[in-house]
Amino acid sequence: MICLGIESSCDETSVAIIKDGREVLANVVSTQIPIHKKFGGVVPEIASRKHLTNIAFVVKEALDNANIDFKDIDYIGVTYGPGLIGALLVGVAYAKSLAYALNVPIVPTHHIEGHIAANYLTYKELKPPFMALVVSGGHSHLIYVKDYTDFEILGKTRDDAVGEAFDKVARVLGLPYPGGPEVSKLAKEGKHTYDLPKTKFENFDFSFSGIKTAVINIAHKEGDNLRREDLACSFEDTVTDELVENCMKAMKKYNINRVVLAGGVSANLVLREKLLKASKERKYECFLPDLKYCTDNAAMIASAAHFNYISGKYYDIKEKLDLNAVANLKIGE
Ligand code: KG4
Ligand code: ZN
Repeated sequence: MICLGIESSCDETSVAIIKDGREVLANVVSTQIPIHKKFGGVVPEIASRKHLTNIAFVVKEALDNANIDFKDIDYIGVTYGPGLIGALLVGVAYAKSLAYALNVPIVPTHHIEGHIAANYLTYKELKPPFMALVVSGGHSHLIYVKDYTDFEILGKTRDDAVGEAFDKVARVLGLPYPGGPEVSKLAKEGKHTYDLPKTKFENFDFSFSGIKTAVINIAHKEGDNLRREDLACSFEDTVTDELVENCMKAMKKYNINRVVLAGGVSANLVLREKLLKASKERKYECFLPDLKYCTDNAAMIASAAHFNYISGKYYDIKEKLDLNAVANLKIGE
């Protein structure tokens, strides 16, 4: 079965062609990062407009790369939330029109289910159940993936997402958007010398706004004496510890012995190393997504769509025309 997947929830216009949920025939990602960089972050209105001008070309390129035609598509998977509403609407409206024109089913897909599915593309044998540590610009979640389409949230951030904290810390340190990779690069040159607060809750929730404020306060207090690389390193070391420690604690409590990493921050090498090491020590299996599937892409969306499709979660577009984008779509609730 051939799925055409569309992702437009934030600042990447991406279209992929996937066979049977795991085999990537094409994955075109048209990033808007250079455009938003000038503004220090994503400008939603510009993002929507760029998706609109890009999408038809990205679809064409994906079909060409996969060497297939519109008539070969069996169904269409599309991110319908969460994300920027204007950006999501472009992908959803395009997917609906295409599904209507081709007379194929449409599979509305959750962005975070896509991030988790990035691991199915990397590990062909991977099957639920497992724990997913989801770390992106909008999410920091511990999710028990009971089955391909059955999710239970065990913990989540009470304030900022970890990627958001990386981006804000980058701004304080004078680094460009997106901040995560920049903070990480700078951190490599530094040492963990600044003492930063870690949060602990009774349950498995996270919080990253306290550490973000502590970083801002240190930067202001130190002024010209600030050792930027040391502050970047202290921040990265502290938040990755918090993520891994909380994840291991939850796995022990729920008796889960396999973990997958998911979301844009899963490209962070320190986090990858720590999760792998902690898992090895406890004899847990650990799965890290291929770097090219960590940040937003349509291949992961098409993979998640496949598993929704085979469990019957799809629409005949001619019977149900009212599919809409949902900016704050929840998972597992
Ligand atoms: O999943 P994603 O592409 O978009 C959302 O769904 O939010 O994640 C983007 C986030 C940004 O906050 C970015 O700074 C962060 O992932 N990120 C990283 C790294 N690469 C991307 N954070 C830390 N280290 C990285 N290497
Ligand atoms: Zn994402």
